[in-house]
Amino acid sequence: MNILLIGSGGREHAMANALAKSHLLTRLYVAPGNPGTERVAENVDLDAGDHGAVVRFCREMGIALVVVGPEQPLIGGLVDALERAQILAFGPTQAAAQLEGSKGFTKDLCRDYGIPTAAYERFCDKDKALAWLREKGAPIVVKADGLAAGKGVVVAATLEEAERAVEAMFAGLFGGSGAEVVIEEFLEGEEASFFAICDGTRAVPFATAQDHKRVGDGDTGPNTGGMGAYSPASVVTPQIEARVMAEIIEPTMRAMREKGAPFKGVLYAGLMLTADGPKLIEYNNRFGDPEAQVILPRLADDLLEILLAASRGALPEAPPRFSNDGALTVVLCAKGYPGTPMTGSEIRGVAGAEAMAGVIVTHAGTRDEGGRLLAAGGRVLNVTALAGSVAEAQARAYAAVDAIDWTGGFCRRDIGWREIARERR
Ligand code: AMP
Ligand code: GLY
Repeated sequence: MNILLIGSGGREHAMANALAKSHLLTRLYVAPGNPGTERVAENVDLDAGDHGAVVRFCREMGIALVVVGPEQPLIGGLVDALERAQILAFGPTQAAAQLEGSKGFTKDLCRDYGIPTAAYERFCDKDKALAWLREKGAPIVVKADGLAAGKGVVVAATLEEAERAVEAMFAGLFGGSGAEVVIEEFLEGEEASFFAICDGTRAVPFATAQDHKRVGDGDTGPNTGGMGAYSPASVVTPQIEARVMAEIIEPTMRAMREKGAPFKGVLYAGLMLTADGPKLIEYNNRFGDPEAQVILPRLADDLLEILLAASRGALPEAPPRFSNDGALTVVLCAKGYPGTPMTGSEIRGVAGAEAMAGVIVTHAGTRDEGGRLLAAGGRVLNVTALAGSVAEAQARAYAAVDAIDWTGGFCRRDIGWREIARERR
């Protein structure tokens, strides 16, 4: 069958690699894709925001399934348009995608269904927000409602910092998403990413990972889209996984069905593992980036079979199987990221890195110019390694990073540090 994958990041290159292995696949198209996806699929110049064009392409090419990688097209209603045209799609409808698109929606759902999350209050009025802050004190967390490309969250250590964040959000410094602000209790613990695959009714656990959101070593500096990840995250023990499914994922599936917006696709729970058990920080409606780069190479089953079953509302009860290997990804970024990245610099040595045992390089913000590979974004390449343990995967990944010759780039040197400390113990 022919498949259309929407997106252009490292996540979509990892998804394309996994889909390309399927025995069910005839042709794989990626829109718009990147120089990495071009090697395993056919990139097509198609705007995911132009639903009519996507539907026409699917009809012309006999597309059996559309897989949506990033959040914007989901929140933009691409799946709804495809379903109206009777084209099968993997991903939530616009109504179901509110789980990622609106923090207020998700917080209210948690309250109504008893899902553990940080205590919170929603504000449309700045003065009321400031008064509440002063009553609660710091540390405290201030969030702009809606999508803000990961930049809409301020974890404030002091009251002054929290007040500045509220002022900035109501002044519109976070784009249109600042019309409403959510203020919530600061949760203490270790974070983990938990992924479930959902078919509208059933959710099955998929995999765990840990991301590294801060730009600097030792988790310092501003937040980014993610500087590296590893999988599995052993901090999510089988007992914690059972609690996450029973206390967070399953009540969410029930809630969405009752709201008339059954959830199909990837439910990605950002968790805080607190002394009182796992609590939901936020939901995303898609695979993580860079988490997909560490999860999908470990998948032992056929990704396309799983996504098809989920899209048809017929997931098997047994969760997908994974290898016991550890996987670790280091994200290579253009200097300047997460501010304005310096693009256009040349990257050499990628083939040498890819030739190393257990190493996979996926592309994100790259551009091919007459055979030369150039940086064309903030997060540019992902260097992933698989090995018997996360510590070995880390050693392999950094050996491969060092084989890449790119003076215009940088990366964190400590991806996986929590897990490696655990493995040593
Ligand atoms: P979010 O965009 O909601 O995932 O938030 C971004 C980051 O802010 C999270 O990955 C956490 O590190 C941090 N964060 C968000 N909410 C809280 C909270 N209630 N307590 C502590 N840290 C939080
Ligand atoms: N790695 C964080 C995200 O995909 O949202």
